[in-house]
Amino acid sequence: MNRKGLRLDQAPPLHLPLRFFLTAPLFGVGAGLLLAWKGAELLLTPWSFPTLALVHLITLGFLTMVMMGALYQITPVLVGTPVPGTGLVWLVHLGLVCGLAALTLWLLTGAPFLNWLAVAGLLPAFLIFLGQMALALRRAPTWNATVFSIALAVTALALAISLGLVFLGEFAALWQLPARRPLATAHVYLALGGWVGTLITGVGYAVIPMFYLSGKFPAHLTWLVMAFQLLLPISGSLVAFLAPSPVWHLIPLLIAASATGVFTFAVVRALRGRKRRIIDSTLRYWQTGIACAPLSLASLAVFTFHPEFRWLMAFGVLFLLGFAMSILSGMLYKIVAFLVWLHRFSKMAGKMDVPLLRDIIPHRPTALQWWTHLLMLGLLVVAALTGHDGLARAGGLALVVSCGALFLILLRAARFNRPTTSTESTGITATNSSGAATAEPQPPSQGSTEA
Ligand code: HEM
Repeated sequence: MNRKGLRLDQAPPLHLPLRFFLTAPLFGVGAGLLLAWKGAELLLTPWSFPTLALVHLITLGFLTMVMMGALYQITPVLVGTPVPGTGLVWLVHLGLVCGLAALTLWLLTGAPFLNWLAVAGLLPAFLIFLGQMALALRRAPTWNATVFSIALAVTALALAISLGLVFLGEFAALWQLPARRPLATAHVYLALGGWVGTLITGVGYAVIPMFYLSGKFPAHLTWLVMAFQLLLPISGSLVAFLAPSPVWHLIPLLIAASATGVFTFAVVRALRGRKRRIIDSTLRYWQTGIACAPLSLASLAVFTFHPEFRWLMAFGVLFLLGFAMSILSGMLYKIVAFLVWLHRFSKMAGKMDVPLLRDIIPHRPTALQWWTHLLMLGLLVVAALTGHDGLARAGGLALVVSCGALFLILLRAARFNRPTTSTESTGITATNSSGAATAEPQPPSQGSTEA
């Protein structure tokens, strides 16, 4: 673990990010149950209410939940300023959980009071969260590519959420939107390109060198990806409003492909150059994610020329579950193991026999979990392309199993509190990755190679 340049002294208490990390897989289980219940009906058109419920269980319930928890954790560490008002984080979490539950139930049942409940939960949750992020970013001592990416991602989230709430107002008959379809398309560009894509790439520059001892990403590549990420939601939203034909969406698609190409090149180069050649599930997740990103864009390109919804649904599966959920699951394993070690054992390192990261999150269950995730992806891509009901339901069950397993592995890690033995009796001290005893506490390595 390379901790150079990190302000770990500013890291928030462990329970703060963990509540988001532990809740996210449960919404993944919810998405899987919905799919297993409704089957291929959810994969026929992107605009039906039950499909929107499924999409938001994944985008808000899993992806945004993890990314908000991660931002509370990494903003003080990577940006160098504490997030203000952390005493309100429980309210943000509660609002997001209750608001999303209400939104899902409203999309499935149409009961009007649920629409209001969704707004009552989501609006304060996001207002507090976005306010906290804005204040923290305003005080950033330096602006590097990661800080810019966080700022861009948070701005895109603010815009996407505003549009989402405007749609809810329309559904509640408060107003009528003049340009409904372009606004919905802008919401998707902002949410997926601006929020999810930018944050994953921006945080990737910081965490890959840290977790895989890979050396830093070249600055010109990180800024280049940043520039593409900035252009993507802007060009996508402009095209949504102004372009006379769908073929114009090839412009933002080309920008997304350029960002993906440069980012993939930089990640592959960094991972090839990593000092410790361990292949674990977290690395498999990165590989899965960066393989799915170009495939998802290819589906979108096909959709531009053959506007059949199955290509759009395949894009959704490949981007949301294949790219974003894969990378975030891999990051969760690394981050949770490291945080538990940092908060519970780092002070004992050098004095006591402390556990290894792989004791906190063992390899074998994570490898099995990754296989179920792959199975789920395979089933759902084929189900999206063929509309096969049995495969859609089986894919939903596989999503339940993979997210359920992710939850149990993270829960075990969160509760990990193994008693330690004194070095005075065993003579064991914490060692760094090269085996030398360390003066400063270092998390012990994962240690083994896995096929
Ligand atoms: C307060 C939060 C949000 C609300 C209330 C909301 C609401 C909505 C609504 C009502 C639609 C349908 C638009 C229409 O049919 O005209 C929609 C579409 C969509 N939203 Fe959101 N949204 C929110 C946040 C997000 C976020 C953060 C993401 C991604 C991370 C996201 C991803 C999407 C996607 C991908 C679609 C297209 C769905 C499809 O193709 O089936 N939304 N959203």
